[in-house]
Amino acid sequence: MDLRDAYFVDGVRTWFGKARPDGAYWTTRADDMVTKIMRELMRRNPTVPWNEVDDSIWGATTQSGDQGTTMGRTVVFTAGLSEKVPGFSVDRMCAGGMTCQTIGSSFIKTGVADIIIAGGVEHMGHHPMGQGADPNPRIVTEKMVEPKYFNMGVTAEKLHDWLVENGEQPVTKEEADEYAYHVTKRYFKALDAGYYHKHCVDMAVFTPTGWKVADRDEQARRDTSLESIRGLRKFPFKAEGRVTAANSSGLNDGATVSLLMSGQKCKELGIKPKMKFVGAAFMGVDPSIMGWGPVPSTEKVLKNYGLKFSDLDIIELNEAFAVQAVGFMKHFGMTPPEDPRLNPYGGTIAVGHPLASSGVRLSMQLAQDFEMNPKAKYGLTTMCVGLGMGGSMLWENAVGKF
Ligand SMILES: CC(C)(COP(=O)(O)OP(=O)(O)OC[C@H]1O[C@@H](n2cnc3c(N)ncnc32)[C@H](O)[C@@H]1OP(=O)(O)O)[C@@H](O)C(=O)NCCC(=O)NCCS
Repeated sequence: MDLRDAYFVDGVRTWFGKARPDGAYWTTRADDMVTKIMRELMRRNPTVPWNEVDDSIWGATTQSGDQGTTMGRTVVFTAGLSEKVPGFSVDRMCAGGMTCQTIGSSFIKTGVADIIIAGGVEHMGHHPMGQGADPNPRIVTEKMVEPKYFNMGVTAEKLHDWLVENGEQPVTKEEADEYAYHVTKRYFKALDAGYYHKHCVDMAVFTPTGWKVADRDEQARRDTSLESIRGLRKFPFKAEGRVTAANSSGLNDGATVSLLMSGQKCKELGIKPKMKFVGAAFMGVDPSIMGWGPVPSTEKVLKNYGLKFSDLDIIELNEAFAVQAVGFMKHFGMTPPEDPRLNPYGGTIAVGHPLASSGVRLSMQLAQDFEMNPKAKYGLTTMCVGLGMGGSMLWENAVGKF
């Protein structure tokens, strides 16, 4: 064991709400959601010297309003940490939180830090996608990116066609629908077995109809059947398309946080971390096929760290759209939808996707997957990112190693 190795110790999230007026968090501030999960992380880990945290790093796609004022620093005050704890914020759209974890783990490996808080938040109800954005006109006039591809759903429609045109295995609408049904079924099985209760924290929220407790993910539909998914005839992104509300991730509010620590600090504090950071890679692709990003970023991370795809025992993939998850599976020789290695306890289509928070959600699930599958050695968290990117983080099971 190299004591400068970086480890994932623990992770907590809010349940994910629907980003609309009847959603749980409609009148709750994003930074209050962040404070809630920070306090819960602290409560669950009482032996951590919280005032000695070396940095607090938070992702948010829209960095204004209740997600502005540099979340990484403001949470230090709202959660009651010492003013000595510094913080900063990061934007890589959906991979904001994942990038915070990569930066934090790299800080630890290089000796910049021993204890890191890395989180992500997105209140898509308060900050709809693209809010306040003013893209440079040259992007359009010089045809750098066709404006329609700023809409992620349109890129998912394009991906269906692109796979066929580019020698990849095609993904039909039927396969995308089957996948959506399958991850939803897996989600409810895991939910009923208490899997999600281990890392989600209930939160009291004030709503237009009074105080309530946000104690469930609102995106998933328990009554979903394959027939109802297939029967959905509204195509929000293309006339007579293939991408529907049922085979897409939703518009959600949520916050996630993780605690990262050096091996040396874990030893000193008697903390048993759940997984070791092996490495990460980010790659750009043509923005019009945004969902393809995880394929090259996964190939790159595996190559850089000397592993093969077959070395991966568990993959937590953020399926922004089912076509993208099925395309990834087929490319790497997995059998969609039921390959047990990918999203074994449900996926984003059911859980919800509050953009910058999702990467950290994947890591807390992978850590729990490792605990439940002690024989598993390597795992991957991976996601596609707006304007055509993919991010992949490699992790090694550390359960029982300390
Ligand atoms: C797809 C999207 C446009 C749908 O938004 P929406 O219309 O508000 O979604 P709703 O939940 O109201 O569902 C729309 C319809 O589909 C139906 N539906 C949704 N999921 C369903 C399911 N699993 N089974 C059956 N019907 C379903 C709803 O009942 C609703 O029908 P209605 O209009 O008759 O009431 C939106 O979720 C979206 O933009 N997703 C992508 C987000 C994104 O791009 N994220 C970034 C990724 S990189």
